[in-house]
Amino acid sequence: MRSLILLLGCLVTESTLTDPCGNYTVLEQPWRSTDCKDTDCSGQWMCDTRLGKAWYRLKSSGGWKIPEHVVPKRRCSTDFTIWLNGSHPTVGQGEVTKTVCFHGKTDCSYTLEINIKNCTDYIVYELKPPPHCQSAYCTDPETADALGLNDHSTQQSTDPDSLSPTPSPKTDTQYKMINVEVHSKMKVDDETAKGIVLKRLQQMTDEQCPGKSIDLNQVDVQCSDVDP
Ligand SMILES: *[C@@H]1O[C@H](CO)[C@@H](O)[C@H](O)[C@H]1NC(C)=O
Ligand SMILES: *[C@@H]1O[C@H](CO)[C@@H](O)[C@H](O)[C@H]1NC(C)=O
Ligand SMILES: *[C@@H]1O[C@H](CO)[C@@H](O)[C@H](O)[C@H]1NC(C)=O
Repeated sequence: MRSLILLLGCLVTESTLTDPCGNYTVLEQPWRSTDCKDTDCSGQWMCDTRLGKAWYRLKSSGGWKIPEHVVPKRRCSTDFTIWLNGSHPTVGQGEVTKTVCFHGKTDCSYTLEINIKNCTDYIVYELKPPPHCQSAYCTDPETADALGLNDHSTQQSTDPDSLSPTPSPKTDTQYKMINVEVHSKMKVDDETAKGIVLKRLQQMTDEQCPGKSIDLNQVDVQCSDVDP
């Protein structure tokens, strides 16, 4: 059994991860919500200048889409709020380039072009760092429910009378999501597949970052079927 697993381990391919839908960094940052006034959600002014240009999925109780409308200044825990001047693409449109506006002296005092892709269940953005502080990408909190994200957000306000901004949890988390495909002539069950993927990831880490370990366990690996 052991040798079977090792053999299958060799068959794990580092699939073509060129599709941003399968290779992105998750930003779990509720402070990006347009409901967040001044520094209420974050305790400090936030700024995205250190955000490297890469594909991101915005995923928090603060929302998962950049608002498609002007956002007032001093929201999203920043001064110059960044919003999308345009609409999100459909799945069929693939990767598209859109303009984001910075709300500075005017609603749109500075712009950047970013790439966006609709991955059916979520959106990924190729974000670029803004040139100056304080500016940050906003999220529309109306889009949080769509993913049921509020379900496991225990820090949400329970006060029904509260009309004030959602007291978002002070979390600020980034992590990387990658999709790998396990090709096997033999049927492998999900647990075996997870084991293979973890083993291979550990190997890749050992090779590329000697001395570093990845902190992953079976629950971090989710299985889904792909068309053969
Ligand atoms: C994932 O995307 C990043 C750019 O965001 C790229 O540098 C990296 O090579 C990609 N990873 C794989 C395995 O293709
Ligand atoms: C993604 O595209 C589908 C249609 O292809 C559309 O129904 C959906 O609203 C889009 N998602 C977003 C967030 O715009
Ligand atoms: C959005 O972009 C269009 C050009 O595509 C521009 O005419 C318009 O003024 C922008 N919206 C705002 C609020 O600045």
